Amino acid sequence: MKGSVLPEVIQKAVGTEKYTVDKIGESTSEVRIYDNYVLKIQPHSPETDNEVQIVRWINGRLPVPSIPAYEIHNGLAYTLMTKAEGKMLCDMDLLQTPELVINLAAQGLKMLWEMDVCDCPCSVSRLTNRLKAAEYNVAHGLVDIENTEPETFGKGGFKNPEGLLDWLKNNRPPEDIVLTHGDYCLPNIFAKGDRISGFIDLGKAGSADRWQDIAIAIRSLDHNFDGRYFGGKPIFDFKPQMFLDALGVEMNEEKYRYYYLLDELF
Ligand SMILES: Nc1ncnc2c1ncn2[C@@H]1O[C@H](COP(=O)(O)OP(=O)(O)O)[C@@H](O)[C@H]1O
Ligand SMILES: [Mg+2]
Repeated sequence: MKGSVLPEVIQKAVGTEKYTVDKIGESTSEVRIYDNYVLKIQPHSPETDNEVQIVRWINGRLPVPSIPAYEIHNGLAYTLMTKAEGKMLCDMDLLQTPELVINLAAQGLKMLWEMDVCDCPCSVSRLTNRLKAAEYNVAHGLVDIENTEPETFGKGGFKNPEGLLDWLKNNRPPEDIVLTHGDYCLPNIFAKGDRISGFIDLGKAGSADRWQDIAIAIRSLDHNFDGRYFGGKPIFDFKPQMFLDALGVEMNEEKYRYYYLLDELF
């Protein structure tokens, strides 16, 4: 790919270590896994800057990888991170214990919600800014319709991404602000035993409504348990209420739908 000649600072840190390229992420980035580090190479964007800023602000108060080097070179951002400990929540072995996975996903959100966001510098996540970013994606044809839920567009759904964007702009729910991860899906959360050990992929993290993360968590739990990533054989009959019970939060159909639909434009 791109980025094969590394900036000097990064090259110095990784030396001649061999690496493997991760295939799990869906973004256009390349993620190189070294013995001691992970190097993410992706187009420089407000999100790549945001990830560094939020990690600095979190400053060890939550288990997130530290970022010993961040370099921008020829339009690419090189983020060198330490490795998260433990297993991803989408790990096949972990998924065999559905109750544990659901409880861990809930535990992770509660950890985020315990943070005081008064001085959080990251606002890319606020709804106004997310809608601006969604507008950019729609205007530049970056919405991957193939990767959306079947009912979002077409018969019974929205005509196209423009139609969905208009609806989102005209139906903004009031925001109940907490620290959000922004892409709270199982491959971005790590656990060791029954404890959360890492949050990664923090480009969209910052202050936002708590349903931003709840909605994506429910979808991710549903998709991982329905077996679509593992040859179609269902693993567990997941119901959103199971996660809400673990969280101690009541269903808010309006916000659930809103944030679920917002994510379709990313
Ligand atoms: N700091 C890290 N520690 C361990 N694994 C990581 C780390 N960063 C990324 N990975 C692995 O690479 C995958 C993709 O990285 P991620 O930052 O989530 O990018 P994407 O935007 O492609 O989802 C993760 O799901 C995880 O398997
Ligand atoms: Mg990810």
